[in-house]
Amino acid sequence: MEDFFFEPYKIKVVEPIPITTREERKKIIKDAGYNVFNIPAGKVTIDLLTDSGTSAMSQDQWAEIMRGDESYAGSKSFYNFQETIKSIFGYKHVIPCHQGRVAENILFMNLLKPGDIALSNTFFDTTRANVLSKGGIPIDVVIEEAYDPEIEIPFKGNVDLNKLEDTLKKHGERVKIFVLTITNNSGGGQPVSLKNIRELSHILKKYGVPLFFDTARYAENCYFIKENEEGYENKSILEIAREIFSLGDGAMMSAKKDALVNIGGFLTFNDDELAEKVKQTLIIIEGFPTYGGLAGRDLEAIAVGLREALDEEYLRARIRQVRLLGNYLMEKKIPIVKPVGGHAVYLDALKILDHIPQSQLPAQSLTCAIYVEGGVRGVEIGSLMFAEKDEKTGEVKYPRNELVRLAIPRRVYTDNHILYVGKVVESVFEKRNKIKGLRIIKESKYLRHFTAILEEVN
Ligand SMILES: Cc1ncc(COP(=O)(O)O)c(C=O)c1O
Repeated sequence: MEDFFFEPYKIKVVEPIPITTREERKKIIKDAGYNVFNIPAGKVTIDLLTDSGTSAMSQDQWAEIMRGDESYAGSKSFYNFQETIKSIFGYKHVIPCHQGRVAENILFMNLLKPGDIALSNTFFDTTRANVLSKGGIPIDVVIEEAYDPEIEIPFKGNVDLNKLEDTLKKHGERVKIFVLTITNNSGGGQPVSLKNIRELSHILKKYGVPLFFDTARYAENCYFIKENEEGYENKSILEIAREIFSLGDGAMMSAKKDALVNIGGFLTFNDDELAEKVKQTLIIIEGFPTYGGLAGRDLEAIAVGLREALDEEYLRARIRQVRLLGNYLMEKKIPIVKPVGGHAVYLDALKILDHIPQSQLPAQSLTCAIYVEGGVRGVEIGSLMFAEKDEKTGEVKYPRNELVRLAIPRRVYTDNHILYVGKVVESVFEKRNKIKGLRIIKESKYLRHFTAILEEVN
């Protein structure tokens, strides 16, 4: 029976799931301006909007919440937090903050000036916005295969090292940082290999550019390395993580993913001078450096969650559940990004809704149709999120892909919930020709997808 799979935990607390009718959902989506961020969670049956901050915490995490030390300065909880992070990441300074985008903000505030360049395999949306808001220029140098949803290779989050060298040669000292996103969220939750990280680190050292990891899903990345990279099959997840971080200068983390908590983040790196500056900024916008916008109990829950997420059995269950959905959809010949990534299944809306032009936001239309069909909330990763308008010419540059991300919260849903999602998507796919495009009627300057109001194109 060793091959029979089951989750390495049992359920102790349950939360009821909201059930709505199709007629209700049609009205809800219209009232929400065809933007799923505006739908009350109480009207969502299966919420796959994000895997961020949506994990189920363990009994050990809840127990530590009771033990949290809420001292303003130097709390015991901070020292536990710091020690755990140092034992995994190995960097000198540990700076807590309340979520990942704050880590990005305070780091870039102290590293980037207008006109500076920041490189990445692919910047996540908040990371990109944080570079732009400092007047910086974000450039992605991921391998070309990452843009083709059909190409199945194990490490589709890898950096294109030729593109990297060309960019470094072209821009020289204007390049101030490389941010390696592991796994690559915007690219489909795809991992980066250790071989690629080693080569990347070597090139960056040659040019004197610091390497920082965006580690929201680093444990999942380590699992893929163990599964698919030669020489790592017998290493523990922790050993793989330590090897990755030994190749860089620092890391930022949204603890809301692979630290299995509902809120939190941190920065960790070696540079003393940078640490002084970052702590000053932290005091102004977040709080004292031993709590950084978090409660002592949050720091404790993060420390436990970081250790739990390195457990191989947990990771096996996690990745397997994401694949359960991906494999179901592939069996039904529904176009998705291949291979299935670590935290989500990405539907290829350009192929599914080939009658809707990019100017009418096919991925957003598909997201809305899936909600109306079965109360399942996913999120658009396409033109609403990434299209850029040239201020002078008014010309719009569309992203290469139009995806709908179905992100699976950690330890939250059962396989039956996941198979229900598969059925809902299948049912939408069968009537895809009836789905209409959308147009934006109100938008903001940065991160417009969070707040935009849309209407159907008739
Ligand atoms: C790769 C990556 N980096 C950074 C962030 C931002 O983190 P937070 O939502 O905690 O601000 C996210 C959030 O989804 C992410 O996926």
